[in-house]
Amino acid sequence: MKFGDDKPSAADSERLSDAVDRVNALKGQLTPPITTWDTEPAFDSDKDKSQFRKFEDACNSVKAFYAEQHEKQTVKFNIEARIAFHSQKRARICLIRCSDASDPDTDVPQIEHLLQTAEAMRRDGKPEWMQVVGLTHDLGKLLSFFGTDGQWAVVGDTFVVGCKFDERDSKDPVYSTVNGFYAAGCGLDNVMLSWGHDEYLYHVFREQSSLPEEGLAMIRYHSFYPWHREGAYMHLMDSRDYKHLEAVRAFNPYDLYSKSNERVRVAELKPYYQNLIAKFFPNEIDW
Ligand SMILES: [Fe+2]
Ligand SMILES: [Fe+2]
Repeated sequence: MKFGDDKPSAADSERLSDAVDRVNALKGQLTPPITTWDTEPAFDSDKDKSQFRKFEDACNSVKAFYAEQHEKQTVKFNIEARIAFHSQKRARICLIRCSDASDPDTDVPQIEHLLQTAEAMRRDGKPEWMQVVGLTHDLGKLLSFFGTDGQWAVVGDTFVVGCKFDERDSKDPVYSTVNGFYAAGCGLDNVMLSWGHDEYLYHVFREQSSLPEEGLAMIRYHSFYPWHREGAYMHLMDSRDYKHLEAVRAFNPYDLYSKSNERVRVAELKPYYQNLIAKFFPNEIDW
């Protein structure tokens, strides 16, 4: 896997994204997330979480990736990415028809991850809207197919752009202060998160789905580990963000710990999930 100016292939993004997930799963063993929203997850109670430790070697490639991501996710890049999002037509797709695609070269591991996440939620009796979030939360990775600047603009943990993150953050006199160009307590709705598959999908679904705001928060913040795991950026939150934080923490274990080598029986599950998709999305959406 290369960094730098190379355009990423979907497979590169997939590998890197898996490494990021493994590192996050590993960190989760050291500081288990507190789930305060809804009920505790039960699906993984008998699963030996120590198996994730064998992935420690993923840490080094991920570190190099984050150095690049923090350097390139500038305020300027983020403003331009949002202008491009709102001004360009990329594709118009039917989610149900997409789920019919059976091309063996299409990102099978990604589809399995999405189905495993949704199935773990279904087994735990989570509401339908949450199962749909599980099923779709990484679809923003389709960004890779529309010509992105690099993997750093698609995957990886996200952070707030335009204020202080850590010592590698911008040395700009405004952007590198604690509040940056934001007001304390302005609410996370009003901050720019580093551009990637989460932010992208959130913008798509916010306008074109009937998912509740907790579901949209799960999508937007699922890679925002500095916030939902480390407790950073609390000074920018407003009252609604506390509810969103609980939702994201309830979502996180399903994303990290539902991965399994057991093959998903895609054909068997398809009718159930196609029916769910139809409940929350119009026939076609602008992508
Ligand atoms: Fe993700
Ligand atoms: Fe995921």
